[in-house]
Amino acid sequence: MEKHILILGSRGQLGAQLVRALAMSGRVIAPAERLDITDRAALEAAITAYRPQWIVNAAAYTAVDRAEDERDQAFAANGTAVGDIGALAKRHGARVIHFSTDYVFDGQGTRPYREDDATGPQGVYGASKLDGERRLQESGAEHWILRTGWVYGLYGNNFLRTMLKLAREREALKVVADQHGAPTPTTLLADVTRRIVEQPDAVAGGLYHVAPRGETTWHAYAQRAIGLAGEGVMGKNFKLGPAQVEAIASTAYPTKAKRPMYSVLSTAKIEAALGVEMPDWDGELQRFVAQLQAAAGF
Ligand SMILES: NC(=O)c1ccc[n+]([C@@H]2O[C@H](COP(=O)([O-])OP(=O)(O)OC[C@H]3O[C@@H](n4cnc5c(N)ncnc54)[C@H](OP(=O)(O)O)[C@@H]3O)[C@@H](O)[C@H]2O)c1
Repeated sequence: MEKHILILGSRGQLGAQLVRALAMSGRVIAPAERLDITDRAALEAAITAYRPQWIVNAAAYTAVDRAEDERDQAFAANGTAVGDIGALAKRHGARVIHFSTDYVFDGQGTRPYREDDATGPQGVYGASKLDGERRLQESGAEHWILRTGWVYGLYGNNFLRTMLKLAREREALKVVADQHGAPTPTTLLADVTRRIVEQPDAVAGGLYHVAPRGETTWHAYAQRAIGLAGEGVMGKNFKLGPAQVEAIASTAYPTKAKRPMYSVLSTAKIEAALGVEMPDWDGELQRFVAQLQAAAGF
């Protein structure tokens, strides 16, 4: 029988990629109307109606700075609702794939974070995502939690898109150079999700870190992206190049929520489970920008 895969948050940057990536893995159900995951009755009605074997939750409250003022909303979507998804999945015999964040860590680490390293969120968003992890783990549902960071893709908003837009509008840019992480394409997250849906017995349920190998800073990432895009047809409209991207300290760019200074994730566990190495972040970025160049030049 064809698997029913219910995707929550299908209009977000990751959700939109998942809808496409899972299309051949079963019958994808992505409700056209936004299904509010904080509405437990609506969730239950959807699960009863669609009878999914899989619930893939890409819905989340992701406004990291606003969360500092909207604690209740952040915890409702990222915490309580994730527990509800777990409880309903258990009752209806569905498996859950859920996404979490590098912001669960305090950022004081000096080597890539492993799944069993101590957490210590610096802000409300990270704390709410950690609450969701715990609630899903305690729900008793069979689940996979994929922690990731610095996500970019074709759909929705992300740092990369902002940098490429600013390269068309400004003659100089300042970007923080003392936060370390790995830019993660939605395609990588969707590929790992697909592998789990297709071969759940090969990847034991639990918590996994998913990101490309290697690390960079927001500043070096912005420079690299603008350099790659600037070399091709997209660069025709650029007002600046990598040399005009100035490195600044986080202290010179204050944000409401504190970010971890170091949030590189060790991917040894997911690599062992899948039997593949994660690609490196720069190669993934090159591949992504090449796609954008091809589309721009068409
Ligand atoms: N973006 C990153 O850099 C990053 C890093 C680490 C982890 N993650 C995690 O990756 C996952 C996907 O994030 P993303 O980057 O795709 O974020 P996104 O583009 O902001 O997408 C999140 C989606 O969730 C929806 N949503 C929010 N509250 C909801 C609710 N109560 N009910 C139903 N839908 C709701 C949003 O819809 P509306 O816009 O209509 O509210 C949006 O479409 C999340 O779990 C996030 O925490 C992201």
